[in-house]
Amino acid sequence: MSKQTTAQDAEGACAKVPRHVAIIMDGNGRWARKRGLPRLKGHEEGASSVRCAIQCCRNYGVEYLTLYAFSVENWVRPPSEIRGLMQLLRRFLKEDEHELHEHEVRLRVIGRMQDLPRLVQSGLNRVMKATEHYTKGQLILALSYGGRSEIADAVRQIAEKVKSGALDPARVDESTVAEHLYAPDVPDPDLMIRTSGEMRLSNFLLWELSYSEFYVTDVLWPDFREEQFAAAMDAYARRQRRFGDVGSKAVC
Ligand code: FPP
Repeated sequence: MSKQTTAQDAEGACAKVPRHVAIIMDGNGRWARKRGLPRLKGHEEGASSVRCAIQCCRNYGVEYLTLYAFSVENWVRPPSEIRGLMQLLRRFLKEDEHELHEHEVRLRVIGRMQDLPRLVQSGLNRVMKATEHYTKGQLILALSYGGRSEIADAVRQIAEKVKSGALDPARVDESTVAEHLYAPDVPDPDLMIRTSGEMRLSNFLLWELSYSEFYVTDVLWPDFREEQFAAAMDAYARRQRRFGDVGSKAVC
């Protein structure tokens, strides 16, 4: 991301189904605690919600799904929880790869993939390579991802180009920054969903969410299934997106 959203994109963005949905999958730990279970059980159930969200996107015709699966901040969690999450990721790659092939969905990663354990990196690289030619949909996993890191990484690349003389500093503008983000060809999310009721962005897609609609639900991520996804889609369909314009000239 991000192919920036501008007023010129408004026509497409006014569609009643979002083209790109981004999700902060929060509440796995609370889901487990409420049941007296270890936190990892919450993440396991959360992985089933991931499968469900992928299927829902397909059913609704959502082209891009970005999931905040592991943040740069999550590395401070207990090593056993991090290990468990990485195992879940490997299991997902192994058990669900066929779904991506069957429905021609491309897998991508945004974030500092080099921080991940080698086996996770190789699994991701293998599935990304095997699905890179698919065009029906994209599943984008944010892993060791931070919005500030993404912007800092972009700024570093731009600074290097300026230093080498390849880029004139006077020509650095918003599109220059957007072109150096992790997935520059992906359109900005139309809808950002956060589960478990927290009203925070938590360092997720800071640049790309500038004009996205937000939908926050108290439902914990492991309980976020078809019915909850449908409610988010309904809420989105009722939103009026203005992109900085005034109400009377609303673009949708
Ligand atoms: C936040 O809940 C969730 C995470 C940090 C991890 C998300 C991972 C999954 C849903 C499972 C595996 C993912 C894939 C792509 C297969 P939390 O632990 O912060 O919950 P809490 O705030 O209730 O403690």
